[in-house]
Amino acid sequence: MRIVLFGPPGAGKGTQARRLVEELGLRHISTGDLLRAAVAKHTPLGRQAESYMKAGRLVPGRIVEGLAEEAMAAAGCDRFILDGYPRTVQQARWLDAFLRRQQAPLDAVISLDVTDEVIVARLSKRRTHRITGRTYHLDYDPPPRSIDPTLIVQRPDDRPDAIRHRLEVYHARTKAVEGYYRRQGLLHVVDGDAAVDVVFGRILKVIERAVVQPMT
Ligand code: AP5
Repeated sequence: MRIVLFGPPGAGKGTQARRLVEELGLRHISTGDLLRAAVAKHTPLGRQAESYMKAGRLVPGRIVEGLAEEAMAAAGCDRFILDGYPRTVQQARWLDAFLRRQQAPLDAVISLDVTDEVIVARLSKRRTHRITGRTYHLDYDPPPRSIDPTLIVQRPDDRPDAIRHRLEVYHARTKAVEGYYRRQGLLHVVDGDAAVDVVFGRILKVIERAVVQPMT
């Protein structure tokens, strides 16, 4: 099973991917998480990526392709959810070519549909655990009082100017990826503006229809 979880920044891709990992035992491949780990470790790749990420700009394709390829290969090119990749039509073409070589086509691209207003509300109040990477929302899912508050931080790209820029990049360069997969018959749009459990149920229904049934 090979799934792409697609959508604007803050649509809930990471939140839902983590639920899918628990429910279906898939591997979660988030290019954002891989890049943040490289930045935290001060690797040469992380040093190249850092300024792009802080500003909410796309990191150059060759850097991200290497990370995505390594992670998919480590998963045996199966049973994974890609989160945050592909983000441009060029990346989608690269992914197709890579998976074709592995004879491992995508099963479904699930796009979470959320308005810009909801995204701003979600991202401006998102907080992240510095060590585990678990995300919280100050209103909908606040960090428990038992957690040391100094471990709960705001991502540098969750500040208002970076959020605005990420949304601009999404509309200018990433949204077109939907059309690319619609033409291949792989796209499933899910309304992401509901409680986490409700959205999760919608995603599971899509997977049941698109992935599980054709295989039986
Ligand atoms: P990345 O980490 O991928 O960021 P993103 O796509 O902008 O997505 P986010 O992680 O911000 O949001 P999400 O959709 O996962 O939402 P979440 O579940 O956390 O990328 C970061 C940067 O890395 C990019 O800007 C770029 O620079 C670089 N990069 C990464 N991939 C790249 C690529 N392929 N090419 C080039 N550059 C790349 O939820 C958000 C908040 O909402 C949380 O607080 C959560 O608790 C809350 N929430 C979630 N669902 C709900 C709900 N249903 N109701 C209420 N609250 C909810």
